[in-house]
Amino acid sequence: MPKPHPEETILDSLRRQYLQLLTPTDISLTHLPPSLLLDQSFQHTLYTHLFNPNRKSHQCPPPPPLRYTARVVKRLITKIEEEAWKEGYACPEIDEDLIDFYATLIATIPAEAASPTDSTSTTHVTYTIAAPTTTTTTTTTTTHPNGESLTLIESRNIISSSGHTGSRTWEAALALGELLISSHHNTTHPLTFPPTSASTNFTTHIPQKHILELGAGTGFLSILCAKLGAHKVLATDGDWRVCSSLQKNVAENKVSGVVSVGRLLWGSGNVVENAEDTDLEPDPRAEHSGGKGREEGYITPDVVLAADVTYDTSIIPSLVTELKYILTQKNPHAQVLVAATVRNPKTIEAFLKELERHSLLWASELWVPHEPRILYYDTTAPIQILKITCPMVGR
Ligand SMILES: C[S@@+](CC[C@H](N)C(=O)[O-])C[C@H]1O[C@@H](n2cnc3c(N)ncnc32)[C@H](O)[C@@H]1O
Repeated sequence: MPKPHPEETILDSLRRQYLQLLTPTDISLTHLPPSLLLDQSFQHTLYTHLFNPNRKSHQCPPPPPLRYTARVVKRLITKIEEEAWKEGYACPEIDEDLIDFYATLIATIPAEAASPTDSTSTTHVTYTIAAPTTTTTTTTTTTHPNGESLTLIESRNIISSSGHTGSRTWEAALALGELLISSHHNTTHPLTFPPTSASTNFTTHIPQKHILELGAGTGFLSILCAKLGAHKVLATDGDWRVCSSLQKNVAENKVSGVVSVGRLLWGSGNVVENAEDTDLEPDPRAEHSGGKGREEGYITPDVVLAADVTYDTSIIPSLVTELKYILTQKNPHAQVLVAATVRNPKTIEAFLKELERHSLLWASELWVPHEPRILYYDTTAPIQILKITCPMVGR
């Protein structure tokens, strides 16, 4: 594969961060050398590569909201001005198209337009699955993006107006996604899992596998698995409103042939399709001991994925009941990976205790994001990845 020019790598990274709707102040500009930023032809390339308003819509993902775009353009212009002043220019020269674009955005945005953080607004968020194939020279390591991407309709507020947490993709899902992409390209680097974990292999191959996702939310991981070549994916969530948006995301990404969506409330007993008005009551013991309906809609998974599902101690018992059911009744050899953002160590402790109570084993590692980045997310709160097994199998 030909090595991309360093400028191309910078532009791709900026574009990926922009399409992923990173908070404008979090977009990393540190790799942009001032000389490049002050170069007007580079500024123009930056404008066309990121915003390209003339590009035909079928060639590129849906753009972020105008208000968000305006904030990103403003940040870039401010950065150019700052660098120019540092270099002693009294009046920085900025690419005219970039300036005009900013002026048009400001004039176009209606005052009442919702921002992507408003509680009611939804927006398209595009995640680019850059292949983490690295080329290392003596001074730089570069990523070769393979261009594949997935676009999700999300609501970026923390908890949706209807009171559930499944309307945005959380950091733990992106971290687990990074692990899957790394595994796919066989590039899990030594920093990702320190030598202490050598006995536990977290590498997880998705092609041709049957995947079950629990608490899927937007469906990021399930759709990613389809793009990575899974044979069949069952994306489940306990909330029918989440399932309904998840279904739209599956259709939007044209993976309906591989990914099916079902409502699975942990411990409830079965997977229900089109479950908008189904009132599922969790009854772990009755259902898990072989109650009627348990098998309906369920698959025998090779891989089970769950991200950010350990945030509340009240949901942990039913989650662990479900994991125990899968590992004892469906496939004792299933590879079960749970990614957890450690906001409160006590919640993780409660999860581990519950696993112990159910005689399940686990290995866990602190996730260190892949560098150069494949996906972009906040790692202020540590993310742990746990691999859960059944002692009867003892892997
Ligand atoms: C914090 S979100 C994580 C979503 C997604 N996995 C991610 O990381 O982006 C937690 C998800 O778990 C689902 N959930 C919570 N309790 C559940 C339960 N008892 N059974 C099934 N799903 C549940 C919620 O509806 C929500 O979509």
